[in-house]
Amino acid sequence: MTIRPILAAALVFGCTPAMGQTKDDADARAAATEAQMRQDERTVLTHGLWAIPLIPGVVIPPEAVTGAGYVSGIPRLGVPALFETDASLGVSYIAGLRGDGATALPSGMAMGATWNADLMRRGGAMIADEARAKGFNTLLGGGINLIRDPRNGRTFEYMGEDPLHSGLLGGAAVAGIQSRHVLATVKHFALNAQESGRHVVDSVIGDDAFRMSDLLAFQIAIEEGRPGAVMCAYNRVNGAQACGSNYLLNQVLKRDWRYPGFVMSDWGAVRATDFALAGLDQQSGAQIDKGRWLAAPLAAAAARDPAYAARVRDMNRRILRSIYAVGLDRNPPVKAPIDFAANAAVARAVADEAIVLLRNQNALLPLSKSVKSIAIIGGHADAGVLSGGGSTQVEAVGGPAVSIPMGGEGPLAKYNNQTYAPSSPMAAIRALAPSASVTYRDGRYLTDAVAAARTAEIAIVFATQWMREGADVPDLSLPEGQDALIAAVAAANPRTIVVLETGGPVLMPWLERTPAVVEAWYPGIRGGEAIAGVLFGDTNPSGRLPVSFPASTADLPRPELPYAGDSDAAFAKADAAGQRFPIDYDIEGADVGYRWHARTGRAPLYAFGHGLSYTSFDHSAPAVTAGTKPRARLTVRNTGTRAGRDVPQLYLVSTPGGTTRRLAGFAQAMLQPGEARTLDIAIEPRILADRRDGAWVLRGGRYGFAVGRSASDLGPVTYVTLRERRWN
Ligand code: GLC
Repeated sequence: MTIRPILAAALVFGCTPAMGQTKDDADARAAATEAQMRQDERTVLTHGLWAIPLIPGVVIPPEAVTGAGYVSGIPRLGVPALFETDASLGVSYIAGLRGDGATALPSGMAMGATWNADLMRRGGAMIADEARAKGFNTLLGGGINLIRDPRNGRTFEYMGEDPLHSGLLGGAAVAGIQSRHVLATVKHFALNAQESGRHVVDSVIGDDAFRMSDLLAFQIAIEEGRPGAVMCAYNRVNGAQACGSNYLLNQVLKRDWRYPGFVMSDWGAVRATDFALAGLDQQSGAQIDKGRWLAAPLAAAAARDPAYAARVRDMNRRILRSIYAVGLDRNPPVKAPIDFAANAAVARAVADEAIVLLRNQNALLPLSKSVKSIAIIGGHADAGVLSGGGSTQVEAVGGPAVSIPMGGEGPLAKYNNQTYAPSSPMAAIRALAPSASVTYRDGRYLTDAVAAARTAEIAIVFATQWMREGADVPDLSLPEGQDALIAAVAAANPRTIVVLETGGPVLMPWLERTPAVVEAWYPGIRGGEAIAGVLFGDTNPSGRLPVSFPASTADLPRPELPYAGDSDAAFAKADAAGQRFPIDYDIEGADVGYRWHARTGRAPLYAFGHGLSYTSFDHSAPAVTAGTKPRARLTVRNTGTRAGRDVPQLYLVSTPGGTTRRLAGFAQAMLQPGEARTLDIAIEPRILADRRDGAWVLRGGRYGFAVGRSASDLGPVTYVTLRERRWN
């Protein structure tokens, strides 16, 4: 099928209501405004600039707010400009170029570890308010790529490895952002699963597996959050650049899902004007591309070719519809002071529910506040907590507590810094245990760290794994000799606790020698306090892993990271010479993460959904009701002595086709000691079905469900018979 017939289909579907939405006034207003546009106005909204004065000779309009992007408005028609900032974790710092700070939420991994959609909404609303107070009306948040390879340098930004979990949480974050009249995105569409060669790698995957995994995450997030825009990714998908993929944009997103919003490109992801015919609606950061393809060249194409003329009208209607649907025109951002204390409390609430207690032998944790002496070692724990690098980097007012230049080439190298938010775990520990003697060693010398650990009652090693956009980590070991440091400290003090501040999963060769391990991720602007709260039991840890921790990279679908190590320039040169860089994601297909571990039988070090508590919970077997909207009901009881939050997970474990492992729903409950509560979990029918011949096919027969404490720790199975169904 050539582009034009599909384009025609897209035009028909493009303007009709999306996914059950009634035709609302946003559509009508968009059509009315577009009809008034002059020819010269029709390529104003279709391209924007990177609003950072980095590239010589590129004039940034004075009204632009320094940040990710600026798209001119059309004052004559009352159409506002788009003032765009990054991103999912807060208003990005862009190395201080704007001269202000913002509130850093914990990382995407941390947010995924909360399994709490309401909290995502709160976090989204908070960063949207900060964006508005700084003059932005577009927040490029909603990064929900599935973690297919935990070495991906952007793992820290994303929510996890499961489509339902990422879709529901990512969609809630988007809904929170847009509830404040700030336009949000979901990104990076799609299968942008590593940073090595991100502009040229070709993600190869079959349609059925794709729609049951990465695409399902986007589909659910779009249903839940109704993002004004979808950001297409840098990489190729099945041979075509994602931002020029007729399959992804016209067929899947606009025709099949009836998405009514617009597709913006990633920054520097557009290679030709005909990307518009493939479904791209807006070129972002146009000065980075080799041409401002969706500006004058698009106007010229529309002047000579009716297909382009029709497409341009649809592009404008889509962008206008999102502006009206999110209320950007009627609620312009108003620069205002920010209540950073109140906003930090939101970040703290997220961190409190994000921290995962991985291991707690002999109930070493929580610590008593009358502990006599604590040796704190490494991780710049005297100063702050780690954050990730790249476009999502958020820094507090006054900048980071620690900033370590990490080098690199080109105009952005000076912005490549490993930074720590000013939230000192040591200060927070001292505050909670004021009578304790607390010493700090930076961990650079084993002898020094061991000496401190040997004489202390408790040793706490803070171990870090820094990640950044644009580069993958070469392996999952803790860098800079931290494994040896932990082993040496644990040998010197049997009461050693490891606090991980990592972007994602890491290997733990020292695990058997350390009685307690806490995963704190990049815990945001109140991360130090949140860590101390968990260590002393002020907070009962309730985080659950949003991603599997493999026991070895040999257990991954691709034990070697594809194309690791080459520079962007080398990739670009090879690409220009016609070399292709396919990555075969059909190896695992839709069996991402815990599903891969279940399929291969290679047990993870720690399973998706795992997380301990200072109390204990009991789950009844699920009572499952069939129907087109199946549901499960279960009773959760707190059988311990402390109040705590539980996150029961419902897994599909068998179908008429055989055994399987798929998260079909989840819930959460804060329970007092002895308290029991009956929870109702909606089961997502698409998780029960398979994709076949372009449709969801639910085979008639017996389906088995179990409640899990993780994907590997399941309770008794309940069976229910479901009737055959097919749907699109
Ligand atoms: C970046 C990222 C994207 C970000 C955009 C604007 O390269 O891929 O997530 O929103 O450019 O900074």
